[in-house]
Amino acid sequence: MKEDKHPIIDIASYTKHTELTKEDLSTKWERVVRRRQFLHALGVAGAVLPASTVFARTASNSSSRLTPGDAALLRFAAAAELIEADLWLQYNELGGVTGGNPGYIAALQNLDSDMPQYIADNTDDEISHAAFLNAYLISKGEAPADLDAFRNLASSKATGSDQTLGRLTNLQALNVDTSFWFRYRSTQNPDLGAKFPQLLKIKNQSAIPVSDSDTPPDTPQLVPPVSGATRNQLRMQSIANTAGFHFAYIEQGGSSLYPILALKATSLEVLRILLSIGGVEVDHFSLWHDKAGNAVNQPFAGVVDPVTKLAFPDFNNPTNQHNSQLSAADRAAGSELFQTNLILPEPCEFLTADLPRVSIIRPTLTANGGAVATIESFTADNLFLGQDQGFFTTVMELARAADAAKREGVD
Ligand SMILES: [Fe+2]
Ligand SMILES: [Fe+2]
Repeated sequence: MKEDKHPIIDIASYTKHTELTKEDLSTKWERVVRRRQFLHALGVAGAVLPASTVFARTASNSSSRLTPGDAALLRFAAAAELIEADLWLQYNELGGVTGGNPGYIAALQNLDSDMPQYIADNTDDEISHAAFLNAYLISKGEAPADLDAFRNLASSKATGSDQTLGRLTNLQALNVDTSFWFRYRSTQNPDLGAKFPQLLKIKNQSAIPVSDSDTPPDTPQLVPPVSGATRNQLRMQSIANTAGFHFAYIEQGGSSLYPILALKATSLEVLRILLSIGGVEVDHFSLWHDKAGNAVNQPFAGVVDPVTKLAFPDFNNPTNQHNSQLSAADRAAGSELFQTNLILPEPCEFLTADLPRVSIIRPTLTANGGAVATIESFTADNLFLGQDQGFFTTVMELARAADAAKREGVD
């Protein structure tokens, strides 16, 4: 952890692309600007102010120091948010409401016509999470999370992607864990030992256009029936469908991470921060869970990627409602394990199997969804493909410190 600089997140450069290319700023982006102005007022946007300045501005509200555990919790959360902001920004440049790749936007809109707006909003949320958490740490005299030294991964070459930005994350060869689909439909709980197979086999699959030769940006929107689609339409739709599932995968991770971190907080204010941001991660997950379902439902089910052969079947069709790796209990639930609009959490076992089943976020045990588990899962996702060892050392140090935090005081 470097303590000699306080770069936080450069919101000005993050939104540079959209500001330069967008003249008719929508109401949404006016709100982004207002938020950025608010952050400027706090002295955090662009992170050009020294920590002492920010501290002086906010110390009157929060003069007490954090426990080392609370600082570790917030610093890991800030790092996770920097990672989230980095990946969401890539999606936003190409597929957001001001995004620059029309073919990708059209394919995303087959999952929901509002997808570009939701992508822009989710990006905005993650930037605000990272900026707030780091500003709060600084206001308490603590070092912020700083991953700027690792913004070295290449941008997509496709039209719309900002080639001037180095990235923390790689969205071009993802292994998306889709087991959340069964986990949230099952009556079983991973914290009580339940295991869930994959819904889809998403391996080495891009979730963004990688080049204009692979997916021309003027690829026309795929119009059902899928059987009449061209090679380029199928490739673009498969990439957009993968994004839909990746969005849900990322946000279900945040949905578990925050309650796990919150359980370790000592200060009520730190607890308030973790619960308040965590609730928005759950909101994100629920939204994307719904959109991902539209990739495996009519009329757009049946897409097969012409490059990777990744298939998106219709899971509302009984002939596709089987998975030999499901547990006996889950197999017995039949179609409910596949139903595409069953997006709200099914009540499941919690704490012990004796208590009534309850609709909850799961997992909420550190080993299954804590900080280290989150980084390990993102690594398996290929989200950090190409990162150097220093990156992994840095984020794992932050993760271990967060997982080791313990709530102080009487339980
Ligand atoms: Fe977030
Ligand atoms: Fe999020």
